Amino acid sequence: MRFFTSVLFALSVSSVTCNDSKPQGPNPGVKDKKTCTIKPSLDGSDDTPAILKAFDSCGKNGRVVFINETYHVDTVMNTTGLENVDIDLYGTLLWSANITYWFNASLFFGYQNQSSAWWLGGSNICFNGHGSGTLDGNGQFVQSQMWAMTVFKSENILMQDVYINSTSHSGSPARNTDGVDTIYSNNIHFDRMTIINGDDSISAKANSTNILITNSTFINGLGVALESIGQYEGVYEILENVTARDIICVKTLHAGYVKTWTGERVGYPPNGGGGGLGYAKNITFSNFTVSALRGSPFAISQCTTFSDTAGDCNSSEFQLEDILIEDIRGTINADPVASFRCSGAAPCRDISMLGVELDLVNGKVASGWKCSNLVGAVGFNC
Ligand SMILES: *[C@@H]1O[C@H](CO)[C@@H](O)[C@H](O)[C@H]1NC(C)=O
Ligand SMILES: *[C@@H]1O[C@H](CO)[C@@H](O)[C@H](O)[C@H]1NC(C)=O
Ligand SMILES: *[C@@H]1O[C@H](CO)[C@@H](O)[C@H](O)[C@H]1NC(C)=O
Ligand SMILES: *[C@@H]1O[C@H](CO)[C@@H](O)[C@H](O)[C@H]1NC(C)=O
Ligand SMILES: *[C@@H]1O[C@H](CO)[C@@H](O)[C@H](O)[C@H]1NC(C)=O
Ligand SMILES: *[C@@H]1O[C@H](CO)[C@@H](O)[C@H](O)[C@H]1NC(C)=O
Ligand SMILES: *[C@@H]1O[C@H](CO)[C@@H](O)[C@H](O)[C@H]1NC(C)=O
Ligand SMILES: *[C@@H]1O[C@H](CO)[C@@H](O)[C@H](O)[C@H]1NC(C)=O
Ligand SMILES: *[C@@H]1O[C@H](CO)[C@@H](O)[C@H](O)[C@H]1NC(C)=O
Ligand SMILES: *[C@@H]1O[C@H](CO)[C@@H](O)[C@H](O)[C@H]1NC(C)=O
Ligand SMILES: *[C@@H]1O[C@H](CO)[C@@H](O)[C@H](O)[C@H]1NC(C)=O
Ligand SMILES: *[C@@H]1O[C@H](CO)[C@@H](O)[C@H](O)[C@H]1NC(C)=O
Repeated sequence: MRFFTSVLFALSVSSVTCNDSKPQGPNPGVKDKKTCTIKPSLDGSDDTPAILKAFDSCGKNGRVVFINETYHVDTVMNTTGLENVDIDLYGTLLWSANITYWFNASLFFGYQNQSSAWWLGGSNICFNGHGSGTLDGNGQFVQSQMWAMTVFKSENILMQDVYINSTSHSGSPARNTDGVDTIYSNNIHFDRMTIINGDDSISAKANSTNILITNSTFINGLGVALESIGQYEGVYEILENVTARDIICVKTLHAGYVKTWTGERVGYPPNGGGGGLGYAKNITFSNFTVSALRGSPFAISQCTTFSDTAGDCNSSEFQLEDILIEDIRGTINADPVASFRCSGAAPCRDISMLGVELDLVNGKVASGWKCSNLVGAVGFNC
């Protein structure tokens, strides 16, 4: 079960303007935005009251600024209903390690039994980390339960220059710490993200559409994921128009991968499930530079069942189609270049791999593809 430290962007409806002098959507940026600069306590006491006050005063047609210091967050925050707001995070938000408190108080949001330490939502939000803005869930203590961020039921979000490092203080990458997840969200752009973690770097889950990931660096995690799909029996979910391009992966497990539950339900979510329906379509991984990847750069598996074990890989009816992989270079630890294990009940359709030039770390040219139930392979032979 995962339950701690998600940042949720909810209920967004209109477009994003990040830069007032260069409006990116139909709503031009508001000039002379009211600005609330939050003063950190600096003595380790809870900064939550000051943060909530700033969102209250400047959360509409305004700007909320976290300066380049550490803010202590000891209390749940619900800042929804924001409108046309720029959030500038220059420093670090550090969540407390009081598991007793978070276990009892965190905000439930009803997907995979997850809850969250911060709901952040509204329309027309630009969240800018300016390259040093950091979200720190205090991974040393709560690493097995933490998600750094979840974009939930949102539209038109730009998240830029955010640094997420979920490495535990003892140095090893924390497990179960996705960098950022999207769920029931449309038109989300992640640009210039740096994510160091031990789970999915960025993960598009149920009903993620028009997701764009650009110019980002992922270290140690699992790469760009489309996963946790098909977990709810009889429920129809889609993933469509997901593009990741101009990406650097260092020591991640994969560059990009897709994982669905099997066709038969075993147990119930969050730990069990399966038997979901739907499709993933028009997925692009383009211009990746990878180094020392730990597994196959590209992978598909439709085998997930109770507690993440492998079940009947041929039963999922979740349809994967139209996947383009192009301009991939760098080094990997071992063959094969791709492992596509598609379901017999709904074979994958149309996967292209073009301009893939990978070497093994020992200098040999990487090669080899493992595939099952794939119709329409372009650029490679299974
Ligand atoms: C905003 O956009 C203008 C015009 O494109 C550009 O000159 C300026 O550097 C941008 N400012 C920021 C903070 O990105
Ligand atoms: C924030 O401070 C750190 C050092 O503590 C510095 O490396 C970084 O450049 C600063 N960020 C900004 C945006 O000034
Ligand atoms: C942790 O939270 C609990 C419940 O809110 C509280 O009673 C306790 O004092 C907190 N512990 C610390 C060390 O702050
Ligand atoms: C649990 O949270 C509720 C409110 O959410 C509060 O009333 C109660 O005191 C908390 N219990 C503990 C043990 O912290
Ligand atoms: C957060 O606030 C919004 C708006 O007031 C409310 O609809 C929502 O239920 C709140 N969320 C939680 C988990 O309390
Ligand atoms: C999921 O949440 C529901 C409703 O709160 C609860 O009844 C159920 O026991 C939870 N399941 C798990 C595995 O935590
Ligand atoms: C991530 O955080 C760990 C622990 O604080 C630190 O040792 C490491 O240098 C950081 N990695 C990067 C790439 O910033
Ligand atoms: C990403 O970087 C490339 C190359 O530097 C640049 O052409 C492109 O405009 C950038 N994309 C975004 C969304 O900033
Ligand atoms: C997910 O998308 C499908 C297809 O568009 C739709 O039928 C379903 O209602 C969506 N689910 C949610 C919870 O929005
Ligand atoms: C696929 O998605 C990309 C954006 O990710 C979009 O530009 C393109 O038009 C889509 N193609 C189709 C056939 O829908
Ligand atoms: C995917 O992109 C195409 C081309 O831009 C668009 O026509 C289609 O509506 C998009 N699909 C979704 C689910 O938004
Ligand atoms: C490919 O991505 C790299 C960053 O990893 C960028 O520097 C380069 O400009 C991109 N190439 C193209 C053709 O956009």
